[in-house]
Amino acid sequence: MTTIENFIKGIPKAELHLHIEGAFEPALMFEIAKRNNLQINYKSVEEIKKAYDFSNLQDFLDIYYEGAGVLIEEQDFYDVTWAYLEKMHSQNVLHVEIFFDPQTHTDRGIEFKTVVQGINAALRDSQNNFGMSTRLIMCFLRHLDEEAALKTLEQALDYKEIILAVGLDSSERGNPPSKFQRVFKKAAEEGFLTVAHAGEEGPSEYVWEALNLLNVSRVDHGNNSLDDEKLIQELLIRKMPLTVCPLSNLKLKVVDDLTNHPLGKMLKLGLLATINSDDPAYFGGYLNENYLELSKALNLSKEEITQLAKNSFIASFLDEEEKRQMIDKVEAFYLENH
Ligand code: HPA
Ligand code: ZN
Repeated sequence: MTTIENFIKGIPKAELHLHIEGAFEPALMFEIAKRNNLQINYKSVEEIKKAYDFSNLQDFLDIYYEGAGVLIEEQDFYDVTWAYLEKMHSQNVLHVEIFFDPQTHTDRGIEFKTVVQGINAALRDSQNNFGMSTRLIMCFLRHLDEEAALKTLEQALDYKEIILAVGLDSSERGNPPSKFQRVFKKAAEEGFLTVAHAGEEGPSEYVWEALNLLNVSRVDHGNNSLDDEKLIQELLIRKMPLTVCPLSNLKLKVVDDLTNHPLGKMLKLGLLATINSDDPAYFGGYLNENYLELSKALNLSKEEITQLAKNSFIASFLDEEEKRQMIDKVEAFYLENH
């Protein structure tokens, strides 16, 4: 009998909610800071890890933006991305869709192309070395104004071959999706798909806005959707994917305990929920650790875990034929290991 742990390790899966700046491990942060002759405010990896004790989203974001500040050269962006992709390959992840936050870097004087080219070179290498498929999603920082987002979109127009979609992240409360209606409309006209973080700390109204004003193909997080019966029905009708992040929710105190995590209810309602890591270097676990910790807390069955792995491909931006092939692999794994 395959243990739950080995079942999770082995099952083919995709990750759809991952901020590349959030995959920046402290050890690599020290190494890159050193070669760029930059100081960081901590003496050791242990000291950094101790600082990763957050009481809410903003608390985390302050440290996350600070960490990203040592990324200067194209090689730096390559190294962070490559380290993440190698880790994903070791966890039997066959497909990843990665967020990046260009404004975090361009506002420090780093060129847009340095960021995109560094990340993209690693994405290409993972295709060539691991056969892993990848997509890139550019997020606008919602604590900044829409003008800044429009300028960022302008810079992305030369990279349509590389950037598939736009998203919305950073401080949610007080920064509703409606603030970015014009830039999302322009992005869609330019051919980008759209996603948005909504309902992580913000209310269910923000999820409605993401659906109706930003026309999103997926909702990132979406936890607070469960407060609104009508919204649940709407998400079901639209087969709208939710990219849920259990360890992130725990570390940012969106849930008080994983045993109270809403993903169990989402699955029972038939919502298209997926498991993701969000910012694994900060939240204490990559994709498999998120599956495992949540499975233990909610006592998920192999059938439910299989459904989550299938959902990760159904909710992805792969084409229908690619999805079919991936889902066949998930089903074959289940039949051999349940
Ligand atoms: N929420 C909002 N913005 C973010 C997050 C998140 O969980 N992670 C990185 N940026
Ligand atoms: Zn996120």
